Amino acid sequence: MTRPITTICCIGAGYVGGPTMAMIAKKCPQISVTVVDISQPRIDAWNSSELPIYEPGLDEIVFECRGKNLFFSTDVEGAIRDCEMIFVSVNTPTKKTGLGKGKAADLTYWELAARTIAACSESDKIIVEKSTVPVRTAEAIEKVLQRNCPHDGVRFDILSNPEFLAEGTAIVDLDAPDRVLIGGKIENAKGQAAVDALVGVYSNWVPKENILTANLWSAELSKLAANAFLAQRISSINAMSALCEATGADVQQVSHAIGTDTRIGSKFLNASVGFGGSCFQKDILNLAYICECHGLPEVAEYWHSVVGMNDYQKSRFVKRMISAMFNTISGKKISMLGYAFKKDTGDTRESPAIDVGHGLIEDGAKLNIYDPKVAAAQIALDMGEEAMKSITCCKTHTESLTGAHAVCIMTEWDEFKTYDWEAIYGVMQKPAFVFDGRLILDHQKLKDIGFIVYALGKPLDPFLCSAEGAP
Ligand code: UDX
Ligand code: ADP
Repeated sequence: MTRPITTICCIGAGYVGGPTMAMIAKKCPQISVTVVDISQPRIDAWNSSELPIYEPGLDEIVFECRGKNLFFSTDVEGAIRDCEMIFVSVNTPTKKTGLGKGKAADLTYWELAARTIAACSESDKIIVEKSTVPVRTAEAIEKVLQRNCPHDGVRFDILSNPEFLAEGTAIVDLDAPDRVLIGGKIENAKGQAAVDALVGVYSNWVPKENILTANLWSAELSKLAANAFLAQRISSINAMSALCEATGADVQQVSHAIGTDTRIGSKFLNASVGFGGSCFQKDILNLAYICECHGLPEVAEYWHSVVGMNDYQKSRFVKRMISAMFNTISGKKISMLGYAFKKDTGDTRESPAIDVGHGLIEDGAKLNIYDPKVAAAQIALDMGEEAMKSITCCKTHTESLTGAHAVCIMTEWDEFKTYDWEAIYGVMQKPAFVFDGRLILDHQKLKDIGFIVYALGKPLDPFLCSAEGAP
C-alpha cells in the first residue's frame, strides 16, 4: 500500500500548471500544493485579484484555496526540497534555432527545471511530466536527475501524465476528465508504486475506471497522437470547406451529416479559418520530426500535410477577402473582431489572426483589432513593430468598426452574435463586407441588412462568385 501524497510542488505557473494545481488543491484539501515559477510578475499576478490567465471558473477556485492549501511562489528550490511529488509544466515551444529548427521541441526549460530538481532534492521525489514532450524525454530527464543530484541515495521516479485540458474549458475538463492517463515504469515494483501514488491523488475525484495507466513511452506518445488526430479532423473539414465553396455545398450541412455517424462523431468538425493554440501545430511538427528521425519520411509527410492544410486555409481566407474587395485592400480599413486563438481565452499563441493579419497588412490594409480579452501589448508582441504601423488596437467593437470597409471574424466570441449589426452597417463604408471565419453570425440577416457576406464553406454570394481571381 503506497502512502498517500501530502505535499505537491508544480514548476511552471502557466496555462497548464495554474488551473491543474488549483483543481488538485480544491479536490484534495489534505494535500498542500505550491506552484512555483521563475517569473516574479507571473507569481505576483497569481497572488493578486487579477489572475495572469483568463479561464472561466478559475478565479473562484483560486480565491477559495489560495493561502489554505494552494500557494504561489518564486522559491523554486524551497518548494522542491519540501515536497514529495513535483509536476513539471514549463513551456516546450518548437525549436527556433539549431538542429531540428522549426520541428523539434525546445527542451531548454524542461532541462533547466530538471537540473534545479537534481540540485536541491534531499529526499526521494516523484517527478510528473505535464508539459508535452517528445517521446522518451522521461528517460533523458531521468539521466540528468540521477547524475546531477549531490545527495546520495535520493531516488527519482518519473511519470508522464499528459494534460488533455483545452483552454476556455479547462476547469470543466479538469473537474470531469474523459480520462486521466498516467505513464510510468509499471514493469517494476517501485515504478508501479509511483504510479499508484499519482492514481491516489486523482482518485480523490476521478472515477477509478477513468484513470488509465500505461508505460512511459505510450503515455508520452498518446499526447502527441491525440492532438494530431484532433487537428487532423479540423484540417479535413477545412479541406471540405474549400470544396464546398467551389461546388455550392454547405460545409455545416456536410459536417452535421458526417458527424451523426457514430463511428465519426460530431466533435471537432467545425470548419474555421484555421486551428491555433499552443499545442496542435507544435505537437504535429514534433511528431513528424520523431518520425523522420526514425526513418519514416512517409509518416512524417502524412502528418505534415495537416499543418499544410491549416496554412492553406489561412491564406485562402486572405485571398478571398482581397478578391472580394475588388482585388485591392490597399489603404482600406479592416475591422478584425477577435484575435485570441479561440473564445473564452486571452491566449494568442499560433492564433490564425496573426497570419491573416500579416497577410492583409502585406497587401496594404489598415487593421482595427478588437478582442474582449487580449491586451494591446500582446498584439504588439505577436505582430512586430513593422506591422504595428498598420494596426490600431481598439477598446470597443464600435471603435474598430466605424469607417471600416470590411469586418473579419477571427474568434468565435459569443458577444459578436449579440451586436446590433444594423447599427454597425450604418457606421461602415459601402459596400460593407463581412468575412465570417468562424461561422457564428446569422448570414441571412446580414445579407438582408445589406452586407456582402462571405461565410467560410458556405455557398458563395453571387457578388463573390464573380470576383476576379477568387480562390
Ligand atoms: C488542445 C487539445 O484540445 C487539448 O486536449 C490539449 O491538451 C491541448 O491542445 P486547446 O489548444 O486549448 O486544446 O484548444 P482546442 O479546443 O483543442 O482548439 C484548438 C484550435 O482548433 C482552436 O483554434 C479552435 O478554434 C480550433 N478548432 C477546434 C476548430 O477550428 N474547429 C473545431 O471544430 C474545433
Ligand atoms: P503552458 O501552456 O504549457 O502552461 P506557459 O508558457 O503558459 O505554458 O507556462 C509555462 C511557465 O513555466 C511560464 O510561466 C515560465 O515562466 C515557467 N518556467 C519555465 N521554465 C521554468 C523553470 N526552470 N523554473 C520555473 N518556472 C519555469
